[in-house]
Amino acid sequence: MILKNKKNKKENTKKSKAEKTKKTEDVKGGEKTKKTWSALRGMHDILPKEEKYWKSMYNTASKLAEYMQFSRIETPILEEASLFVRSIGKGTDVVEKEMYLFEDNDGSKVCLRPEATASVVRAYVTDGLWNNPQPVKMWYWGPMFRHDRPQAGRYRQFTQVGFENIGVLDPAADAELILIAFNFYKDLNLPVEIHINSIGTPEERERYKNELLNYYRTKKSYLCEECRKRMVKNPLRLLDCKEEQCQGVKEEAPQIIDWLSEASKSYFMKVLEYLDELGVPYILRPSLVRGLDYYTHTVFEVYPVSGEGAAQSALGGGGRYDLLVEEMGGKSTPAAGMALGVDRSVIYMKDYYQQNQLRVEKDPYDIFFAQLGDRAKGRAMKILEELRKSNIKIAFNLYKNSLKTQLDIANDLKVPYALILGQKEVQEGTIIIRDMESGIQEIVDQKKIENALKKKLKKFDELAK
Ligand code: HAM
Repeated sequence: MILKNKKNKKENTKKSKAEKTKKTEDVKGGEKTKKTWSALRGMHDILPKEEKYWKSMYNTASKLAEYMQFSRIETPILEEASLFVRSIGKGTDVVEKEMYLFEDNDGSKVCLRPEATASVVRAYVTDGLWNNPQPVKMWYWGPMFRHDRPQAGRYRQFTQVGFENIGVLDPAADAELILIAFNFYKDLNLPVEIHINSIGTPEERERYKNELLNYYRTKKSYLCEECRKRMVKNPLRLLDCKEEQCQGVKEEAPQIIDWLSEASKSYFMKVLEYLDELGVPYILRPSLVRGLDYYTHTVFEVYPVSGEGAAQSALGGGGRYDLLVEEMGGKSTPAAGMALGVDRSVIYMKDYYQQNQLRVEKDPYDIFFAQLGDRAKGRAMKILEELRKSNIKIAFNLYKNSLKTQLDIANDLKVPYALILGQKEVQEGTIIIRDMESGIQEIVDQKKIENALKKKLKKFDELAK
């Protein structure tokens, strides 16, 4: 999909003028109508009520990254289009159909990144990361763009969290990445399955492709339209076909594992041994080839356990890409990585938590701060500011004036104590601490609030031990 920038600009200007006019002047049946805007097809808003899921995913990933010694990298969202054509491969769906391509003002072809592995490798080569002690382990979290046909769990803008390990050829590195993917879901209490395969070296794959084609040629009359095209364009993708009519042919197809050299097989066996030792369950899937061209040897995908509907698609995937750094202009450097789709994982988490009555635990509030009257409101804001760094988690609602309403909120939040500040307390420089369970109230000096609260709150007791 190529968008011509200048032409587009003109159209956009025209459109926005038209829209402006529409917004102010549309009159239907004597009534003015206002134009409203929805997000573009395939793009979606992440609303405040979803924040808890996104936050727990981000925190889980960031803790795992720190423990496994991956450093954060951020690369631009816009890149030269050829970066992705070269790395992901011309015949792939991502490059052929899904890139958000357009011409920049200087006529160069740029593209919203459909994934970040190519960008991280670009950074490794051009920012001199190959000079650092190897391997370089990096992780990222950010939006990706694919002009795909939107459906449940498939968007045109989506977020990935990814891990790349560049500079080492060791089955332990492959196992480590699979372990991170597995632990990410385990720490979120989500059961997943790892599907794994090895696609060997390009030479081994080429020999296998010929064998696969020989086999498929004899079955051509049973194949779907798309598979017939795949035979010409990208034979390995024949193994990805989901059409009912092709399943029988696919099941009988030769398996790549039989075409791997002893060295490739033993590398793969070592990865599996590490996974056994780590207790990471996996399913060997000989038809797994992945949709991007840069992979060599180990490839894997993560699936929800017995998922249905949107949850049937992969939550994440990755593998080894030992030839990509050199392909991108660097020295020959082995590498491996994986990325997990956050939007899809959030859908799975919501469904699974609902079905299993699990809750995303939020840090509870320690205190509710209630205030009464104009002068109290100003002082309350001041005290809240003073307590900001105290580590006491305080809930408040400065826009409610009734004490009853505020104490009702405090009850709903199940806080053990409330602070109450009225006109009298403002005048006297004091504040009331109310025990929400017993209703017993104590008056303390405003200057001593922090200490008084810390003495009462259990969490500070535990910290002092
Ligand atoms: P991928 O399999 O293309 O791999 O994407 C990884 C994950 O991103 C998918 O499993 C899925 O959860 C999510 N994803 C992909 N497309 C969409 C979409 N249209 N809507 C929602 N989620 C989507 C890669 O991107 C590789 N860069 C992974 C990798 C890293 N390999 C080595 N290092």
